[in-house]
Amino acid sequence: ALPRDLEGLRVAISAGGTREPLDPVRYLGNRSSGKQGYALARVAAQRGAEVTLVAGHTAELPAPAGATLARVSTAEELRTAMRSAAAEADVVVMAAAVADFRPASRAEHKIKKSDDAPDPVLTLDRNPDILAELVRERRDGQTVVGFAAETGDEHGSVLEHAHAKLRRKGADLLVVNAVGDGKAFGTEDNSGWLLTADGGEEAIPLGAKARLAATLWDAVTALRARRSRL
Ligand code: C5P
Repeated sequence: ALPRDLEGLRVAISAGGTREPLDPVRYLGNRSSGKQGYALARVAAQRGAEVTLVAGHTAELPAPAGATLARVSTAEELRTAMRSAAAEADVVVMAAAVADFRPASRAEHKIKKSDDAPDPVLTLDRNPDILAELVRERRDGQTVVGFAAETGDEHGSVLEHAHAKLRRKGADLLVVNAVGDGKAFGTEDNSGWLLTADGGEEAIPLGAKARLAATLWDAVTALRARRSRL
Protein backbone atom coordinates (compact mmCIF):
# COMPACT_ATOMS: atom_id res chain seq x y z
CA ALA A 1 0.00 0.00 0.00
CA LEU A 2 1.10 3.56 -0.64
CA PRO A 3 1.89 5.90 2.27
CA ARG A 4 -0.90 8.39 3.10
CA ASP A 5 1.73 11.12 3.37
CA LEU A 6 -0.23 13.69 1.32
CA GLU A 7 -3.22 13.64 3.66
CA GLY A 8 -4.47 17.20 4.25
CA LEU A 9 -2.69 18.56 1.16
CA ARG A 10 -4.76 20.26 -1.56
CA VAL A 11 -3.21 19.97 -5.00
CA ALA A 12 -4.16 21.45 -8.38
CA ILE A 13 -2.77 19.70 -11.45
CA SER A 14 -3.13 20.51 -15.15
CA ALA A 15 -2.79 17.84 -17.83
CA GLY A 16 -3.17 17.33 -21.55
CA GLY A 17 -2.97 19.74 -24.46
CA THR A 18 -4.90 22.85 -25.39
CA ARG A 19 -6.68 23.52 -28.68
CA GLU A 20 -6.73 27.02 -30.09
CA PRO A 21 -9.61 27.50 -32.56
CA LEU A 22 -9.12 28.90 -36.05
CA ASP A 23 -12.75 28.65 -37.12
CA PRO A 24 -15.72 26.54 -35.98
CA VAL A 25 -14.13 23.29 -37.20
CA ARG A 26 -10.34 23.79 -37.03
CA TYR A 27 -7.79 24.31 -34.31
CA LEU A 28 -4.07 24.37 -33.52
CA GLY A 29 -3.22 21.59 -31.11
CA ASN A 30 -0.43 19.33 -29.93
CA ARG A 31 0.26 15.65 -29.29
CA SER A 32 0.09 15.68 -25.49
CA SER A 33 -1.63 12.53 -24.18
CA GLY A 34 -2.16 13.82 -20.64
CA LYS A 35 -0.80 10.55 -19.23
CA GLN A 36 1.83 12.14 -16.99
CA GLY A 37 -0.62 14.64 -15.46
CA TYR A 38 -3.21 11.92 -14.89
CA ALA A 39 -0.58 9.74 -13.21
CA LEU A 40 0.33 12.65 -10.93
CA ALA A 41 -3.33 13.08 -9.98
CA ARG A 42 -3.91 9.34 -9.43
CA VAL A 43 -0.83 8.90 -7.25
CA ALA A 44 -1.55 12.06 -5.23
CA ALA A 45 -5.12 10.91 -4.53
CA GLN A 46 -3.87 7.44 -3.57
CA ARG A 47 -1.48 9.09 -1.11
CA GLY A 48 -4.32 11.04 0.49
CA ALA A 49 -4.24 14.45 -1.22
CA GLU A 50 -7.35 16.38 -2.17
CA VAL A 51 -6.86 16.63 -5.94
CA THR A 52 -8.30 18.94 -8.60
CA LEU A 53 -7.28 17.86 -12.10
CA VAL A 54 -7.75 20.42 -14.87
CA ALA A 55 -7.59 18.44 -18.10
CA GLY A 56 -7.29 19.76 -21.62
CA HIS A 57 -7.41 17.37 -24.56
CA THR A 58 -5.98 13.95 -23.82
CA ALA A 59 -5.89 10.40 -25.08
CA GLU A 60 -8.76 8.32 -23.77
CA LEU A 61 -7.84 7.92 -20.12
CA PRO A 62 -9.78 6.70 -17.08
CA ALA A 63 -10.67 9.54 -14.68
CA PRO A 64 -8.29 9.29 -11.71
CA ALA A 65 -10.17 7.84 -8.75
CA GLY A 66 -10.83 10.34 -6.00
CA ALA A 67 -9.89 13.46 -7.99
CA THR A 68 -12.20 16.30 -9.01
CA LEU A 69 -11.95 16.56 -12.80
CA ALA A 70 -12.52 19.80 -14.74
CA ARG A 71 -12.33 19.66 -18.54
CA VAL A 72 -11.10 22.61 -20.59
CA SER A 73 -10.15 23.20 -24.21
CA THR A 74 -8.26 26.44 -24.84
CA ALA A 75 -5.30 27.93 -22.97
CA GLU A 76 -7.57 30.72 -21.76
CA GLU A 77 -10.01 28.20 -20.25
CA LEU A 78 -7.16 26.26 -18.67
CA ARG A 79 -5.83 29.50 -17.20
CA THR A 80 -9.19 30.40 -15.61
CA ALA A 81 -9.69 26.90 -14.18
CA MET A 82 -6.13 26.67 -12.82
CA ARG A 83 -6.24 30.12 -11.24
CA SER A 84 -9.38 29.23 -9.35
CA ALA A 85 -8.04 25.79 -8.30
CA ALA A 86 -4.68 27.31 -7.30
CA ALA A 87 -6.39 29.87 -5.07
CA GLU A 88 -7.23 26.97 -2.73
CA ALA A 89 -4.21 24.73 -3.27
CA ASP A 90 -1.06 24.00 -1.29
CA VAL A 91 0.69 22.57 -4.36
CA VAL A 92 0.23 23.53 -8.01
CA VAL A 93 1.59 21.36 -10.83
CA MET A 94 1.49 22.57 -14.44
CA ALA A 95 1.90 19.37 -16.47
CA ALA A 96 -0.31 20.55 -19.35
CA ALA A 97 1.09 21.24 -22.81
CA VAL A 98 -0.29 24.76 -23.14
CA ALA A 99 -0.16 26.25 -26.63
CA ASP A 100 2.32 29.12 -26.64
CA PHE A 101 0.39 30.81 -29.47
CA ARG A 102 -3.21 31.08 -30.63
CA PRO A 103 -4.66 32.30 -33.93
CA ALA A 104 -4.95 36.09 -33.71
CA SER A 105 -8.54 35.89 -34.83
CA ARG A 106 -11.14 33.17 -34.84
CA ALA A 107 -13.26 33.11 -37.99
CA GLU A 108 -16.97 33.02 -37.29
CA HIS A 109 -17.58 30.77 -40.30
CA LYS A 110 -15.49 27.96 -41.74
CA ILE A 111 -12.57 29.40 -43.71
CA LYS A 112 -13.10 28.54 -47.39
CA LYS A 113 -10.64 28.11 -50.22
CA SER A 114 -11.27 30.27 -53.20
CA ASP A 115 -9.77 30.48 -56.69
CA ASP A 116 -10.38 34.23 -56.73
CA ALA A 117 -8.85 35.19 -53.37
CA PRO A 118 -5.33 34.63 -52.04
CA ASP A 119 -4.77 31.75 -49.62
CA PRO A 120 -5.08 32.81 -45.99
CA VAL A 121 -2.02 33.67 -43.91
CA LEU A 122 -2.12 32.61 -40.28
CA THR A 123 -1.24 35.27 -37.72
CA LEU A 124 -0.61 34.13 -34.16
CA ASP A 125 -0.82 35.91 -30.81
CA ARG A 126 1.08 34.80 -27.76
CA ASN A 127 -0.86 33.05 -25.01
CA PRO A 128 -0.25 34.08 -21.40
CA ASP A 129 2.34 32.01 -19.55
CA ILE A 130 0.05 30.40 -16.99
CA LEU A 131 2.83 28.91 -14.89
CA ALA A 132 4.58 32.29 -14.53
CA GLU A 133 1.24 33.88 -13.65
CA LEU A 134 0.49 31.25 -10.99
CA VAL A 135 3.95 31.92 -9.51
CA ARG A 136 3.18 35.66 -9.34
CA GLU A 137 -0.16 34.93 -7.64
CA ARG A 138 1.11 32.18 -5.36
CA ARG A 139 -0.33 31.93 -1.85
CA ASP A 140 1.90 31.90 1.21
CA GLY A 141 3.70 28.57 1.46
CA GLN A 142 2.36 27.29 -1.86
CA THR A 143 4.67 25.01 -3.84
CA VAL A 144 4.67 25.47 -7.63
CA VAL A 145 5.93 22.82 -10.03
CA GLY A 146 6.48 23.13 -13.78
CA PHE A 147 7.31 20.72 -16.56
CA ALA A 148 9.59 21.35 -19.50
CA ALA A 149 10.10 19.38 -22.67
CA GLU A 150 13.52 20.32 -23.96
CA THR A 151 15.82 19.49 -26.79
CA GLY A 152 19.46 20.53 -26.76
CA ASP A 153 20.68 22.94 -29.44
CA GLU A 154 23.73 25.01 -30.36
CA HIS A 155 22.95 27.43 -27.51
CA GLY A 156 23.17 24.88 -24.76
CA SER A 157 22.28 21.50 -23.36
CA VAL A 158 18.87 20.33 -22.22
CA LEU A 159 19.84 20.94 -18.59
CA GLU A 160 21.25 24.42 -19.17
CA HIS A 161 18.01 25.45 -20.88
CA ALA A 162 15.98 23.89 -18.09
CA HIS A 163 17.82 25.60 -15.21
CA ALA A 164 17.37 28.92 -17.01
CA LYS A 165 13.64 28.20 -17.51
CA LEU A 166 13.18 27.36 -13.83
CA ARG A 167 14.82 30.65 -12.84
CA ARG A 168 12.82 32.62 -15.40
CA LYS A 169 9.48 31.20 -14.33
CA GLY A 170 10.19 31.29 -10.59
CA ALA A 171 8.80 27.81 -9.84
CA ASP A 172 10.10 25.67 -6.95
CA LEU A 173 10.59 22.49 -8.96
CA LEU A 174 10.88 21.73 -12.65
CA VAL A 175 10.56 18.28 -14.20
CA VAL A 176 12.56 18.17 -17.40
CA ASN A 177 11.89 15.63 -20.10
CA ALA A 178 14.23 15.22 -23.01
CA VAL A 179 11.96 15.03 -26.05
CA GLY A 180 12.35 14.20 -29.71
CA ASP A 181 12.94 10.75 -31.28
CA GLY A 182 9.57 9.50 -30.00
CA LYS A 183 10.44 10.16 -26.35
CA ALA A 184 7.89 11.23 -23.69
CA PHE A 185 4.91 12.42 -25.78
CA GLY A 186 2.16 9.78 -25.80
CA THR A 187 4.38 7.02 -24.44
CA GLU A 188 3.85 4.99 -21.26
CA ASP A 189 7.28 5.75 -19.85
CA ASN A 190 9.10 8.92 -19.00
CA SER A 191 12.57 9.94 -17.90
CA GLY A 192 14.42 13.16 -17.27
CA TRP A 193 15.60 15.30 -14.39
CA LEU A 194 14.09 16.97 -11.41
CA LEU A 195 15.51 20.46 -10.85
CA THR A 196 15.17 22.56 -7.73
CA ALA A 197 15.26 26.36 -7.51
CA ASP A 198 18.56 26.24 -5.58
CA GLY A 199 20.26 24.60 -8.58
CA GLY A 200 19.85 21.00 -7.43
CA GLU A 201 19.35 18.29 -10.01
CA GLU A 202 18.29 14.66 -9.72
CA ALA A 203 18.15 12.24 -12.65
CA ILE A 204 14.87 10.38 -13.08
CA PRO A 205 15.51 7.00 -14.70
CA LEU A 206 13.23 5.75 -17.49
CA GLY A 207 10.15 4.24 -15.91
CA ALA A 208 6.37 4.27 -15.77
CA LYS A 209 4.74 7.69 -15.53
CA ALA A 210 3.33 6.63 -12.14
CA ARG A 211 6.92 6.07 -11.00
CA LEU A 212 7.90 9.61 -12.01
CA ALA A 213 4.78 10.86 -10.23
CA ALA A 214 5.87 9.13 -7.02
CA THR A 215 9.35 10.67 -7.32
CA LEU A 216 7.84 14.13 -7.76
CA TRP A 217 5.51 13.80 -4.76
CA ASP A 218 8.47 12.61 -2.67
CA ALA A 219 10.39 15.72 -3.72
CA VAL A 220 7.43 18.00 -2.97
CA THR A 221 6.98 16.57 0.54
CA ALA A 222 10.74 16.81 1.20
CA LEU A 223 10.81 20.43 0.05
CA ARG A 224 7.77 21.37 2.14
CA ALA A 225 9.20 19.62 5.23
CA ARG A 226 12.48 21.52 4.80
CA ARG A 227 10.63 24.84 4.44
CA SER A 228 8.45 24.26 7.49
CA ARG A 229 11.57 23.67 9.60
CA LEU A 230 13.11 27.01 8.51
O1 C5P B 1 8.04 27.67 -21.67
P1 C5P B 1 7.59 26.25 -21.75
O2 C5P B 1 6.33 26.07 -22.58
O3 C5P B 1 8.64 25.28 -22.13
O4 C5P B 1 7.23 25.89 -20.25
C1 C5P B 1 6.64 24.68 -19.89
C2 C5P B 1 5.93 24.85 -18.59
O5 C5P B 1 5.15 26.06 -18.59
C3 C5P B 1 4.93 23.75 -18.33
O6 C5P B 1 4.80 23.59 -16.92
C4 C5P B 1 3.66 24.31 -18.95
O7 C5P B 1 2.50 23.72 -18.38
C5 C5P B 1 3.77 25.77 -18.63
N1 C5P B 1 3.18 26.71 -19.60
C6 C5P B 1 2.19 27.58 -19.18
N2 C5P B 1 1.65 28.49 -20.06
C7 C5P B 1 2.08 28.55 -21.33
C8 C5P B 1 3.12 27.69 -21.77
C9 C5P B 1 3.63 26.78 -20.88
O8 C5P B 1 1.81 27.53 -18.02
N3 C5P B 1 1.53 29.44 -22.16
